[in-house]
Amino acid sequence: MLKANIAVFCSGGGTNLQALLDAQAAGTLRSGRIALVLASTPEAYALERAKKAGVPAAVCSRREIGSQEAFEAAIRKALSAHDIHVIVLAGFLSILSEDFTRCWPGRILNIHPSLIPAFCGKGMYGLKVHEAALARGVKITGATVHLVNEIPDGGPIVLQRAVEVLPGDTPEILQRRVMEQAEWVLLPQAAELLCAQIVKGEDKQ
Ligand code: GRF
Repeated sequence: MLKANIAVFCSGGGTNLQALLDAQAAGTLRSGRIALVLASTPEAYALERAKKAGVPAAVCSRREIGSQEAFEAAIRKALSAHDIHVIVLAGFLSILSEDFTRCWPGRILNIHPSLIPAFCGKGMYGLKVHEAALARGVKITGATVHLVNEIPDGGPIVLQRAVEVLPGDTPEILQRRVMEQAEWVLLPQAAELLCAQIVKGEDKQ
């Protein structure tokens, strides 16, 4: 295999997807190629970014499809149609079952906007993470890229980067700083690390 095929799963703005697309264009993401963008809603701006970059996209909406089984069957179909090797969860807000994640051991990356094990786990996503960090009064937060297993935000940590909390921060300001200084840097690096291992046949699968 020359490059691992990556599917990026998104639900919203897709700035982390953009960081991956930019890394691919710059050649820093070179062991993998973004082969599919999968959105959980047709409104996700990530779909526009995929279109602009000429990357195939699919929408699998849990709400429209109805059952979790049918939702995951639709995802599996899209993944096999594009011969995907690696899944990157980049702000994907739909739940994936243990049945699903078990089929991809060591092959799903997730980005979480805090230094795990702080401010993570069930129900901790988006602005809630930054609200919790500010409420606790931490002076350092950051982002974590980890492999996904059956425990929410509990899989092996791949990369972390710290970010300062500054006086006067709101959840929105802090979220932006964590994205700029940590998430957009770490996610392409982690994707390259995992894809390079897969291409060389060195991953643990
Ligand atoms: C990021 O903060 C990410 O850490 C979290 O969801 C947000 C996604 O933002 N999981 P975007 O869609 O990549 O802009």
